[in-house]
Amino acid sequence: MTHTPARPLPRFPEGFLWGAGTSCYQVEGGVHEGGRGESVWDRFAHTPGTIADASTGDEACDSYHRYAEDAELAAELGADLYRFSVAWPRIQPEGTGPALEAGLDYYDRLLEALSSRGITAVPTLYHWDLPQALEDQGGWLNRETAYRFAEYAALMAEFFAGRVETVHTLNEPFIHLALGYALGTHAPGRTLGFEALPGAHHQLLAHGLAAAELRARGLKVGLAHNYTPVRAASSAPADIAAAHAYDTLHNRVLTDPLLLGEYADLSVFGFEDAPEYVHEGDLKIISSGRPDVLGVNYYNPTTAAGLDPLAASTSPLSLGLPFELRGVEGAPVTAFGWPIVPEGLTEILVTLKQRYGAALPPVLITENGCSTLDEPDQDGVVHDEGRIEFLDGHIRALHEAIEAGVDVLGYVVWTLLDNFEWDQGFEQRFGIVRVDFDTFARTPKDSYHWLRALIQDQRSGSAG
Ligand code: FCB
Repeated sequence: MTHTPARPLPRFPEGFLWGAGTSCYQVEGGVHEGGRGESVWDRFAHTPGTIADASTGDEACDSYHRYAEDAELAAELGADLYRFSVAWPRIQPEGTGPALEAGLDYYDRLLEALSSRGITAVPTLYHWDLPQALEDQGGWLNRETAYRFAEYAALMAEFFAGRVETVHTLNEPFIHLALGYALGTHAPGRTLGFEALPGAHHQLLAHGLAAAELRARGLKVGLAHNYTPVRAASSAPADIAAAHAYDTLHNRVLTDPLLLGEYADLSVFGFEDAPEYVHEGDLKIISSGRPDVLGVNYYNPTTAAGLDPLAASTSPLSLGLPFELRGVEGAPVTAFGWPIVPEGLTEILVTLKQRYGAALPPVLITENGCSTLDEPDQDGVVHDEGRIEFLDGHIRALHEAIEAGVDVLGYVVWTLLDNFEWDQGFEQRFGIVRVDFDTFARTPKDSYHWLRALIQDQRSGSAG
């Protein structure tokens, strides 16, 4: 089945890359295979009350065994790129020591499955599954974790050298910190509020140290951030200040040191002095890890409103945050309740360009997609029109950013497969391929066929 968009899509630049992404804990399963150690996500998902449908990633999509089928689906899609992440506890079960051969063998088979189909692998070293043994020593609150990450990166750099071009270090360090360490809805489930901030610095340090290991072996360095355009709820000064504060936290704290070589200004949160967890020389290590490719994950904009100080001190989620976050008024929402605002993608990319100028590396859209809950019809076909509309709008918005002068290398859809969506378990389906979680059968949805046709059109030059 082929779907042609109602309006012809604009033509993307020659050599623009298309791809699909996954992450290890969300798809692999096989959590006890090959000597793999426990990760914070294993521990968290097995803790009652943490996951909406009480599921775990123990089996997920069984990609540990079905990786060749996944590679074939990516190939059939016409993907240039396949983004995946390496499970740190498969390589170092306790987060330290030599690499486990069985762990490397799995990624070796995956790389082979991709390269034999002409697909470029885009690995990420860390998509949130910290070895539990390291969490037991303080996790990202412990500076030592950055050095353990650098050791792990060195092992993986040896493995990837000569086989892939670019290795991404971290996925969405801000989201990992906010949900995992500040609010506690993700693993490791800590509710530290602003006390989590050292974890931002330690992830940056980890990136800088890892970047040196990757470059020493001739690899290019990437890192994927989640970005959101932040809008003020109104023109009232309190709302504008709230938007500024949230923009700083979400978009700048983990990017300014990397791209500008300076820390973001946190005085808006009452932090004036250099904190004691920042050591002399750290900023140099961090900024020398300026990525060669900046991964941009985009889902939606955020509206920020100022909080009445009294409400702030009594709100259970306040955690000292001087703002309240809201959806986008009037915008339709995904099954997850996330606002659908395609032009937000143009907006955030243009903002990054204005903010960082020549310091902004070429961008790869490493994630963009949506959850829809369409069930198969009597013939087993999933008509996910909502996803097609979402992707169509965002791909057009991306083209506008390119027209506005942003250097974008490619677009990687989130995600190839319905998978374990963190605290939502299997209740949110983001895949362009449906997965039956009883049989692990994979069935491409209408959006898969639509994207396949789009990629073919772009390649053949027939697009408008
Ligand atoms: C991003 C994560 C990814 C997936 C999508 C929906 O924040 O990086 O693993 O969960 O959201």
